[in-house]
Amino acid sequence: MGAVSTSVFLLTLIHLILQISALNVLSPGSSLSAEHSSDVLLSPDGTFTCGFYNISTNASTFSIWFSNASERTVVWSANPLRPVYTRGSKVKLNFDGSMVLRDYGGQIVWTTNVSSTYADQAQLLDTGNLIVKGKGDIILWQSFTSPTDTLLPTQSINATINLMSTNRLLVPGHYSMRLDDQVLISLFDDQIDLSLIYWPDPTVTIWAKLRIPFMINTSGVLDSWGQFRGSDNTSFIAADWGSHIIRRLTLDMMLCKVHGVCGRNGICVYTPLPSCACPPGFDVVDQSDWGKGCRPKINITCDEQKMKFVHLPNTNFYGLDLNVHRRVSLNFCKNICLSDCNCNGFAYFQGIGDCYPKAILLNGRSLKGIGSMYLKLPKDFNVSESSIPRSQFFGPKYGPNCSVANNYTIANFSTMSVARGLAYLHHECLEWVIHCNVKPENILLDENWVPKIADFGLAKLLNRSGSNIYVSRIQGTRGYLAPEWVSSLPITAKADVYSFGVVLLELLKGARISDMEKNDEEEVEMVLGRIVRVLNENLQLVGTEQSWIPDFIDTKLNGDFNYLQARTMMELAVSCLEEDRSRRPTMENAVQVLVSVDEVSSATGVGGAV
Ligand SMILES: *[C@@H]1O[C@H](CO)[C@@H](O)[C@H](O)[C@H]1NC(C)=O
Ligand SMILES: *[C@@H]1O[C@H](CO)[C@@H](O)[C@H](O)[C@H]1NC(C)=O
Ligand SMILES: *[C@@H]1O[C@H](CO)[C@@H](O)[C@H](O)[C@H]1NC(C)=O
Ligand SMILES: *[C@@H]1O[C@H](CO)[C@@H](O)[C@H](O)[C@H]1NC(C)=O
Ligand SMILES: *[C@@H]1O[C@H](CO)[C@@H](O)[C@H](O)[C@H]1NC(C)=O
Ligand SMILES: *[C@@H]1O[C@H](CO)[C@@H](O)[C@H](O)[C@H]1NC(C)=O
Ligand SMILES: *[C@@H]1O[C@H](CO)[C@@H](O)[C@H](O)[C@H]1NC(C)=O
Ligand SMILES: *[C@@H]1O[C@H](CO)[C@@H](O)[C@H](O)[C@H]1NC(C)=O
Ligand SMILES: *[C@@H]1O[C@H](CO)[C@@H](O)[C@H](O)[C@H]1NC(C)=O
Ligand SMILES: *[C@@H]1O[C@H](CO)[C@@H](O)[C@H](O)[C@H]1NC(C)=O
Ligand SMILES: *[C@@H]1O[C@H](CO)[C@@H](O)[C@H](O)[C@H]1NC(C)=O
Ligand SMILES: *[C@@H]1O[C@H](CO)[C@@H](O)[C@H](O)[C@H]1NC(C)=O
Repeated sequence: MGAVSTSVFLLTLIHLILQISALNVLSPGSSLSAEHSSDVLLSPDGTFTCGFYNISTNASTFSIWFSNASERTVVWSANPLRPVYTRGSKVKLNFDGSMVLRDYGGQIVWTTNVSSTYADQAQLLDTGNLIVKGKGDIILWQSFTSPTDTLLPTQSINATINLMSTNRLLVPGHYSMRLDDQVLISLFDDQIDLSLIYWPDPTVTIWAKLRIPFMINTSGVLDSWGQFRGSDNTSFIAADWGSHIIRRLTLDMMLCKVHGVCGRNGICVYTPLPSCACPPGFDVVDQSDWGKGCRPKINITCDEQKMKFVHLPNTNFYGLDLNVHRRVSLNFCKNICLSDCNCNGFAYFQGIGDCYPKAILLNGRSLKGIGSMYLKLPKDFNVSESSIPRSQFFGPKYGPNCSVANNYTIANFSTMSVARGLAYLHHECLEWVIHCNVKPENILLDENWVPKIADFGLAKLLNRSGSNIYVSRIQGTRGYLAPEWVSSLPITAKADVYSFGVVLLELLKGARISDMEKNDEEEVEMVLGRIVRVLNENLQLVGTEQSWIPDFIDTKLNGDFNYLQARTMMELAVSCLEEDRSRRPTMENAVQVLVSVDEVSSATGVGGAV
């Protein structure tokens, strides 16, 4: 008897503690506030928590996450692309059943669009589903019908419900899981102007997909044992299939599919974070910039007797094949590569016998089902099993060494090639790195004057699952920050374009914005606004009136520059500094402008003043 009453008492106590620290239901008229971390809804068994998730010091999203995961794992967000300012933001359940998320200024950021005569309560279920109940327990709204990038067991996907990869903040993902025009559950790579299906394999016939097309009401669901089943005959199973495991199905960003992300000879592996690794026999060129790839520490000779092959399972270096041989044996493929001095290895597909000898090893990645790589190495080079890179969920973490100090140089007039660095960031590496602190100190040039963005202390390495150790704070320096950072507007990649505009101005003027002529109490934003206005007026002047140009440009250059080039760069800077970010160019446009300017000056040979 004693034991029983003790445990009853304990249960009550635990219940009380939960009551104090978190709510179980939200009643109409009440709200959760972003700045009180105890303002959360807890599912009855405690698995899930719903509330505001701090994505940085001052910004948060209204989200649901696993309460107990050692690193917060978000499974749903109302406003993943539009974080709110933490202080003063609230989500409220109205008497008509609608839930409304308002930013600190009262602006509506998100709403459930429900309207009913009576709302009972909002409640977080043990499944992780946030529901709003109306009269007679009918569900007025549920988070399960508007997933972000994650599907939980019992949550379904169908014609109206789809997943989209997100970076948790700042930029929408490129990948989605939804029904295609054959009504099959598919994975899409969504580019700006086209969508490509990459699963099921688009190159095979409708029958070879082993799916049932054109069904009415196709849907799919993940069960608690880890099997996903679709009514179109989709079926896949978790590697750790079984009960008593808390699961989620998350649309990954598949960074490793970004071409060239790990440079020459480098291999992109999931660990589970996407990271770069060098194959055996190779060393990383620059820890702080994996884009430079890996250099061989061995000599590959033409002497067949001295070479052997090392097997890298589930690995391929995409493209750049010397040749292709179909339906050949592994030995045949080996001999072809051995007898060709240019061959540094080959990809081989066991079973079908496709053989792809390669001279250049680029776009390396390790994933199941992409073939096997055989790397040519000297016979006397010992390879340990552990030095073979492979994607794994609980392995050693490869990746950039963020503690490596970088020597940097401030670019002078010539910024032609951050900008390419930045464009690389935006369009090839965007998923991974969002650089929020672009200013001269952070525009790094390597020994060949190729800019690189390597200040990882300030860059944020982002990972959608929220488990990235490098991710921390949105940081920035006033004056370089785009207005939307300050005003809590949605933050997009174009915030960097703004910062780039400031840097461009500084480079043109040869002075830091904070040092430019200003009155004592003037803020940098005001100085900037004034300079842009003056510049804009001058740029309106007809082409021949150019006397103002040398006054604006860095005096250290002694007027020794191309006016056309300078003018174009000023125009670019001004457009990058547009208050309205939709009017700013993309970084890619900016690069094009700079490149064209470069071509103009070299083509005409105009070096000095006009
Ligand atoms: C989120 O940030 C706010 C404001 O900085 C803070 O009051 C709150 O405790 C933070 N919440 C968590 C869970 O860290
Ligand atoms: C969460 O962790 C606490 C303490 O480790 C444990 O007592 C509790 O049962 C866990 N809850 C869930 C839902 O796993
Ligand atoms: C957060 O907001 C406070 C108050 O507005 C401000 O002082 C602080 O600098 C902000 N922190 C960051 C990292 O932006
Ligand atoms: C609510 O309606 C607006 C306007 O139609 C729409 O943009 C928004 O996505 C809707 N919100 C939800 C949660 O469906
Ligand atoms: C998709 O599923 C949701 C929830 O299960 C359901 O309300 C909705 O009607 C379904 N849509 C279609 C087109 O089947
Ligand atoms: C459904 O899938 C299974 C295995 O995934 C396959 O054996 C079967 O033929 C498929 N059915 C259809 C109609 O394609
Ligand atoms: C498809 O789903 C809708 C809404 O869920 C339902 O009314 C309809 O009967 C379904 N049709 C079939 C053929 O199952
Ligand atoms: C590679 O060849 C060069 C020149 O023949 C030699 O100096 C070097 O030691 C060799 N490296 C290795 C690892 O054998
Ligand atoms: C490779 O391993 C063998 C056997 O362990 C050893 O005899 C040989 O010296 C090693 N070679 C090199 C280059 O380390
Ligand atoms: C990173 O670089 C620092 C400095 O060069 C070094 O001390 C440290 O061991 C490196 N860490 C890793 C994991 O390679
Ligand atoms: C940075 O530069 C200094 C002096 O030029 C040099 O001694 C140091 O090795 C450099 N550090 C790195 C990481 O390149
Ligand atoms: C950049 O400017 C500094 C001083 O203004 C000068 O010492 C340096 O040589 C310049 N670099 C280039 C590449 O022109």
